[in-house]
Amino acid sequence: MESKIRIEPYVEKITMPENVRIGNLISEHRRKCTKNSCAFDYYGFAFGQSPFPVPSIVQRALCEHANKGTYSSTVGIEPLRTAIASFMERYYGLEVDTDRIFVGPGTKEIISIIFDTIEGDIVIPTPSWIGYGPLISLKHKNSHTIKLDPSKGYKLDPNDLDKVLSEKKGQHILVLNNPHNPTGAVYTREELTEIARVCDKHGALVLADEIYALTTYDFERFTSMGAIYPEGTFITNGISKDRSAGGYRLGYAILPSSCPEKVKSAFAKVAATVYTNVSTPIQYAGIAAYEHSEEIDHYFSVTRAIHDIIGTYASRRINKIGYLHATKPQGTFYLFVNFNAYRREMMIRGATSSNELAHALLSHPYHLAVVTGEDIMLEDTDYGARFALVDYDGAAAMDAYENQAPRNEKEREEFVETHAPRIVAGIDMLELFINDLT
Ligand SMILES: Cc1ncc(COP(=O)(O)O)c(C=O)c1O
Repeated sequence: MESKIRIEPYVEKITMPENVRIGNLISEHRRKCTKNSCAFDYYGFAFGQSPFPVPSIVQRALCEHANKGTYSSTVGIEPLRTAIASFMERYYGLEVDTDRIFVGPGTKEIISIIFDTIEGDIVIPTPSWIGYGPLISLKHKNSHTIKLDPSKGYKLDPNDLDKVLSEKKGQHILVLNNPHNPTGAVYTREELTEIARVCDKHGALVLADEIYALTTYDFERFTSMGAIYPEGTFITNGISKDRSAGGYRLGYAILPSSCPEKVKSAFAKVAATVYTNVSTPIQYAGIAAYEHSEEIDHYFSVTRAIHDIIGTYASRRINKIGYLHATKPQGTFYLFVNFNAYRREMMIRGATSSNELAHALLSHPYHLAVVTGEDIMLEDTDYGARFALVDYDGAAAMDAYENQAPRNEKEREEFVETHAPRIVAGIDMLELFINDLT
């Protein structure tokens, strides 16, 4: 019997979020892979999930507060907002009044609330994080993409931004993800200043998605857009990536300085309508994640050093494969690989659009799970893939690094071979894929 349930047409247009879509793609390929003795293990370069354990100080705080079963403040409990304010000052040199801090169930939800609350079209540099596109569609927002140029290190060119903002009327929100998922690029203070100048000229706002800030390999080099353009920037951040607690669902927004009360209460109203409050025990655990402690400081320095070792290794190796071009990440745990030199060969093999590249890489015997195509807002003809470099035992890698940090190039390479063997083997497979193409 045909179902009588009808869904909203705009929901049909939304791309399935990364975890479910890639999960489906992997199961589909697992079913199809009928090659003898193929157990269909795959190289997990698709999910953007930190491999490390949640810091134990945060885990303990969660257990201690498991009895907090009451509803709590929509905008975040006061001790958590205070801890976030001091965190902002310690790590980013920003002075933030607690009434500009809004806590939410993950950064994605916080971004969603900003899109709901703030009028205007979204301007989005591409390739981008997989999550923005579906949110923009769900909210019926207008959006304008700006293609990032590989020869400019995939960083937004202020002239391109100026052009887009000059052509369009009304308020705009530039989504600036720094460090950048999927390329690992990190903006300098000077680059941010130029972008801010253009935004200011056109009265545009910035949604500075800085969720990977503390994974910047050389953290001294990270500058928050909140320091450059405080009056026009919404900073978003959370504990999913740098404290490996994606499943906790805790994020926050810092509203622009001198943000009118009207905007703050609109934000609180939408948040209260959508989620009431973030799980109360999680907010208490969040205090331990944001309060100053040696354990957290140490955690940041060890985990970012491991991201650096693995990101640098993967970039170097992939750049040696034929005509592939991989970014050299300066933060995050991703890199972006440009396959355009092989567009013709790919077409001949039936991968007729950049979406198909993910299927080709997942096919037998390569079994490489990556994210490509429209998911990361690439044009059909732009063959590129995001590789998440997280398919290893993070706890073991941390122990090994703490025991004996590698001291030179050779030891760093050995570290990857010993502690991230699937990343090494996955890159070997990528090499095989390219050899087979040509
Ligand atoms: C750039 C970017 N922003 C936001 C998010 C969402 O983070 P959260 O888990 O806090 O919702 C992610 C997660 O992958 C991301 O990569």
